Amino acid sequence: MTFRIAPSILSADFARLGEEVRAVASAGADLIHFDVMDNHYVPNLTVGPLVCAALKPHVKLPLDVHLMVRPVDRLIPDFAKAGASIISFHPEASEHVDRTIALIRENGCKAGLVLNPASPLSFLDHTLDKLDLVLLMSVNPGFGGQQFIRSVLPKVSEVRKRIDKLGRDIWLEVDGGIKTDNIAEVARAGADTFVAGSAIFGSKDYAATIKQMREKLSVV
Ligand code: DX5
Ligand code: ZN
Repeated sequence: MTFRIAPSILSADFARLGEEVRAVASAGADLIHFDVMDNHYVPNLTVGPLVCAALKPHVKLPLDVHLMVRPVDRLIPDFAKAGASIISFHPEASEHVDRTIALIRENGCKAGLVLNPASPLSFLDHTLDKLDLVLLMSVNPGFGGQQFIRSVLPKVSEVRKRIDKLGRDIWLEVDGGIKTDNIAEVARAGADTFVAGSAIFGSKDYAATIKQMREKLSVV
């Protein structure tokens, strides 16, 4: 199993964003997780395609764009042009989920579907074979630094089974409240990609924190 660590810029110092993404990249991150919030679908407001495009030259790592916006389609071409590699969205925020997935892929990006803690896995019934990534939220979206919601663990295992049954290389990412002390448990449930915001950007030494996470993952 290949494990990937995706620091979320939500907990970075926004006044020094370029420097912050370079720092986590050299600290050993695999992806940069870019949280987009609209004060409509979620009660917080962050950054859009302009900031994504501004960051792009600072980092070679894939940009993992997590859209918490409604409506969603309008922004997809903009994020593709801004350098996103993966674009994920919440099915509740799209009028036509299949169309949104197709739009992401037509724009040359990998497509991800994001399920909130209370969102049913039935959203994957007619979509999984078209996805590159499933992102399971282990907090309610909108803020960094929240407590990990443990009821996501059986959902992670169930999605792992569905992905394995399908036999396609679909990443299974978990987002919210991931720390060095629970990352192994989330991996054992079946996740391969881990978003961590406050755990990494809130630590003094990004490289030491990512190294600790990898050590925990190495014994899963
Ligand atoms: C929450 C965001 C997360 C957030 C995670 O809506 O999607 O990516 O930054 O932050 P932590 O790791 O602090 O829970
Ligand atoms: Zn996120």
